[in-house]
Amino acid sequence: MKGFDHFNFLSPIYDLVFGRGQDQRIVELADVKENHRLLDVGGGTGRVSVLFRKIVNSAVVADSSLKMLRKAQEKGLQSVNSHSEYLPYPNGSFDRVILVDAFHHVKEQQKTLNEMFRILKNGGKMIIEEPDIRNFLVKLVALGEKILLMRSHFLAPEKIAAMCRYDGESNQKIYIEKGIARIVITKI
Ligand SMILES: C[S@@+](CC[C@H](N)C(=O)[O-])C[C@H]1O[C@@H](n2cnc3c(N)ncnc32)[C@H](O)[C@@H]1O
Repeated sequence: MKGFDHFNFLSPIYDLVFGRGQDQRIVELADVKENHRLLDVGGGTGRVSVLFRKIVNSAVVADSSLKMLRKAQEKGLQSVNSHSEYLPYPNGSFDRVILVDAFHHVKEQQKTLNEMFRILKNGGKMIIEEPDIRNFLVKLVALGEKILLMRSHFLAPEKIAAMCRYDGESNQKIYIEKGIARIVITKI
C-alpha cells in the first residue's frame, strides 16, 4: 500500500469513529494561557485543537494529510500542511506543542521530537499523548494497524521519554492513565 494515505481515506468518518468526548486531561496538563500559541502536530481533523481554541488565541493544526486538514479548516481552525519531521517555523515559535495519537504514525520519530522541541519557546511545554503499548487493548489496536499495513511503530512511554530527554535544557513527567501515556516536556 505504498503511497496510500490511510488518513486521507479515513478523513470523512474520522471524527465519528474516534470522537474524543469530553476528555480534557491534555488541556489540564498543558496549562494554557490566553496569550499562548499552540501547535497541534499530526493534529488531523482538529479533534483536539478545538478543546484548546476556547482558551488560547492561536491554535494551529499541522498535518501531512490534506483531507484531514480540510476537516480542521471546516471547524474554523488554522492549518498548515506539513510533515512533523520538518515543521515550517523558526526556533522558539510556540508556547505549547502537542502530538496526540500520532507519534506511532510518523515516519521519523526522533526527528519529529527534535523539531517539536526546536520550535518550542523557553519555558514552553510539549506533550506527547500515545496509547500505552503495554496495555492489552492497545496491543490489539497495534495488530489491527499492522494488518491494515499502516506501518505504525509503537514505543513504550519510557522509551519515548528517553528520546526527548534534552539534558540541561528540559525536564519531563510521564502520566499513565487508562491505557494512555502523556509525556510532558518543559523546555528550560
Ligand atoms: C490517528 S491521527 C490523530 C489525529 C489527531 N492528533 C487526533 O488525535 O485526532 C494521526 C494523524 O497523524 C498524521 N500524520 C502521520 N504522519 C505524519 C507526519 N509525518 N507528519 C504530519 N502528520 C502526520 C496523519 O495524517 C493523521 O492525521
